[in-house]
Amino acid sequence: DGDVYKYYSDGEWKKSSSGKSVSIVNPTTRKTQYKVQACTQEEVNKVMETAKVAQKSWAKTPLWKRAELLHKAAAILKDHKAPIAECLVKEIAKPAKDAVTEVVRSGDLVSYCAEEGVRILGEGKYLVSDSFPGNERTKYCLTSKIPLGVVLAIPPFNYPVNLAVSKIAPALIAGNSLVLKPPTQGAVSALHMVHCFHLAGFPKGLISCVTGKGSEIGDFLTMHPSVNCISFTGGDTGIAISKKAGMIPLQMELGGKDACIVLEDADLDLVAGNIIKGGFSYSGQRCTAVKVVLVMESVADALVEKVNAKLSKLTVGPPEENCDITPVVSESSANFIEGLVMDAKEKGATFCQAYKREGNLIWPLLLDNVRPDMRIAWEEPFGPVLPVIRINSVEEGIHHCNASNFGLQGCVFTKDINKAILISDTMETGTVQINSAPARGPDHFPFQGLKDSGIGSQGITNSINMMTKIKSTVINLP
Ligand code: G3H
Repeated sequence: DGDVYKYYSDGEWKKSSSGKSVSIVNPTTRKTQYKVQACTQEEVNKVMETAKVAQKSWAKTPLWKRAELLHKAAAILKDHKAPIAECLVKEIAKPAKDAVTEVVRSGDLVSYCAEEGVRILGEGKYLVSDSFPGNERTKYCLTSKIPLGVVLAIPPFNYPVNLAVSKIAPALIAGNSLVLKPPTQGAVSALHMVHCFHLAGFPKGLISCVTGKGSEIGDFLTMHPSVNCISFTGGDTGIAISKKAGMIPLQMELGGKDACIVLEDADLDLVAGNIIKGGFSYSGQRCTAVKVVLVMESVADALVEKVNAKLSKLTVGPPEENCDITPVVSESSANFIEGLVMDAKEKGATFCQAYKREGNLIWPLLLDNVRPDMRIAWEEPFGPVLPVIRINSVEEGIHHCNASNFGLQGCVFTKDINKAILISDTMETGTVQINSAPARGPDHFPFQGLKDSGIGSQGITNSINMMTKIKSTVINLP
């Protein structure tokens, strides 16, 4: 059936024996855009088997050769940026320009990973025994970094290509094999990306991509005995996975409620620009989006006015036309966002714009005078709606930030760098940005969440290290 995209197993594109498919609904038209195979548990077993076999010889492949293939894949990926970006536009309604940026950024990430990998994996340690009390220099310890085995990568819908390669490239350079389970929205973009790796000529079975229903293969994949590491980005599912997974390393990046703390001396034009970029790019569907503004009362009116002026200039419409605000990923997501907005309305928030929705398209909205009893003060809308909480002291802002069950990133705006660093030290988040909106990139920076925002640290170097184990060999002298 030519209408259903094939899945990738053992170096080949295959139809599932299930005879079933999963539909991908275009968020803009709300009609089925693509179909992918609904893989079975037997097919997952087969993929795991080939992944295990392929990994053994891949681990023995010289590092420079692994790097060479990754560089090749990166170049092919960049060459294919246009068709992949087109899929991103249709599957997840990412504005056309941002879709291209995602693919280019992904190519750069893969290349950087290859370069970083040959360096950090190209050296080990040499230790001598007589530094520990009671020992003579009779033992020499040599360490190196060895692969974990089969890495399972589960990226989210908002970066189906970029957050897939941020797992694939470190896994491969470190000598692991990789099984990818793309999000349903974004699966076809991911399959195209995998095709670039296929064209680069990686050994059969080293990379696989299975598509299908979470209910059918989700738990089966994450609890599979052949999986030696899970790298997941997404929502609450990550918490469930971490409870079910075996004794294997987990890399998890879950939600966030990134706070933007604005002090009285802040450059309000700079803040407003960053609130627009941080809160509304890709319609707020980023884990690192600004999700609550905590502004000192004395400058709140001025800031809200500046943000509103910029907000009114945002274009709203289809991703093909490069609009700033595009339809959110699904109807259920739009309904959830609407629920948060209505709750805030009932509890007395000030709407700076009229609430407007058509299908999955929600117009950008700033909600002023939000209070802690409103759901939107704590929950992650993943949409173009942003609450503003007015604070009377910096401590009040920090307290709100730290009372969240999330701890991904946060930002603070002030001209006083000393104050900013002290505030950063007290904010319980994986990263604090001073005078800029939260963001994951540049992609070699460490990226991590505290509390319910994640396990472990990402960023190219950290991911390569996380996907390896230390192996020691000790030489004992007589
Ligand atoms: O959605 C989660 C992403 O890791 C955020 O990445 O800061 O580059 O948008 P970004």
